[in-house]
Amino acid sequence: MAGCADRGVCAGPGQRGERGSGQLSPGSSGLGDPYFPLAGNGGYDVANYSLHLGYDPGSKQLSGSALITATATQNLSRFDLDLRGFTISELTVNGSPATYERASGQELVITPSHGLRAGGSFTVSVAYSGVPQVVTDPDGSIEGWVPTADGAFVVGEPQGSPSWYPVNDNPQDKATFDFEVTVPEGLTVMANGVLVSNRSAGGRTTWVWRESDPMAPYLATATLGRFDLTVSQVGGIPSYIAIDPTLPSGNVFRKLPAIVEFYESIYGPYPFNAVGSVADNAPEVGYSLETQTKPVFDRMPDEATVAHELSHMWLGDSVTLSQWPDIWLHEGFATWSEWIWSEHNGQKSAQSYFDTLYNTPASKTSFWTPPPGDPGNAAHLFDGTIYNRGAMTVQALRQKVGDDTFFRIMRTWVQENRYGNVTTPQFIALAEKTSGMDLDHFFDVWLYRPEKPTSW
Ligand code: TRP
Ligand code: ZN
Repeated sequence: MAGCADRGVCAGPGQRGERGSGQLSPGSSGLGDPYFPLAGNGGYDVANYSLHLGYDPGSKQLSGSALITATATQNLSRFDLDLRGFTISELTVNGSPATYERASGQELVITPSHGLRAGGSFTVSVAYSGVPQVVTDPDGSIEGWVPTADGAFVVGEPQGSPSWYPVNDNPQDKATFDFEVTVPEGLTVMANGVLVSNRSAGGRTTWVWRESDPMAPYLATATLGRFDLTVSQVGGIPSYIAIDPTLPSGNVFRKLPAIVEFYESIYGPYPFNAVGSVADNAPEVGYSLETQTKPVFDRMPDEATVAHELSHMWLGDSVTLSQWPDIWLHEGFATWSEWIWSEHNGQKSAQSYFDTLYNTPASKTSFWTPPPGDPGNAAHLFDGTIYNRGAMTVQALRQKVGDDTFFRIMRTWVQENRYGNVTTPQFIALAEKTSGMDLDHFFDVWLYRPEKPTSW
């Protein structure tokens, strides 16, 4: 959606070619992410994914039909989508059969029968089926379409989405999503956005959800299983809370409206038109994810985790990194958001969280390295340092510039970059501009130098 052509990251032959003329050339197989070079593809910009899925938890078979609407950003002879596994039964571009090839890894290379002109809109339709392959990340964690006792826990950060739908899997290509998911009657499907309908026939139920705000592909979900679903209104938008009845009961989600209201007071209006949460029994996953509009939790979460994931709606989902090494812009900010929620409630203050961590000797913790602004490689994306030293960076900035300036920086960051993609240098520039201070040394020490900061 946000044109990667605008950002100059889709460099490739033909990018400057005038509309409707010039040579055709292949779109690139990646978008240059340092950690995931094949994630996403060059030469086009997706506007909408319309995913029709059927899933049978018994056989674990997923059958899908994806209709992708996109705009070419160069004259294309061929282009790639990202897809892992599955058998493809039909693939068309603008309604005509196209040839395709499954290349190494996740690349699905598509050659349409006619070239695509820069600036023109086109559709790709892919019919596919199979048992989704669970993806193991460089840090050993699992993601994708992960089977549970009664359904599936569906998470895509950072690279699980191609294991359940054909996708331009890069956070820079945000799009709207329509989901129509059919499951055995009695199961509930929780996808992003607003519930449009759920209808049962012949022992199966089709759940229709629509995410009409721009969404990075890794934030899509269609988590399904046996759930108690409660629909209500929070601040004028629908709220969907789904709880797996096999989890220990708890009422932590009663805090959701207050948490949303509090973050609105800091970061500005809630960015989406639905809110909620999904608590599933998925112990094998071991983490929660800020899936857009309704985070999914692998267990009954504690209050801090609910606050963490909800804060990601502003910081991560609406304002999204451009490249994965900048992950501290999500996790450091969300961890600091947990701290400020605690402070707001008269519990432990953000500074006190900072002090506790700062006073932990480096020999007793791994959280000082790698530095949060430079994780080094994908295996360190979700290390403790990204969360803890990342959040300490935010709190140290608050100390350095004072509350007035600090909260102005945070609010401006979220508002100016709504639905967009950002980089760490952009955050530093905003902090310097708002404070009128030179913060190069400050951010160098906190984000990029490997050793524990001592003066800043
Ligand atoms: N982003 C998640 C959070 O809110 C964590 C997460 C997503 C994660 N994918 C992961 C953690 C893979 C470890 C491995 O904290
Ligand atoms: Zn997080």
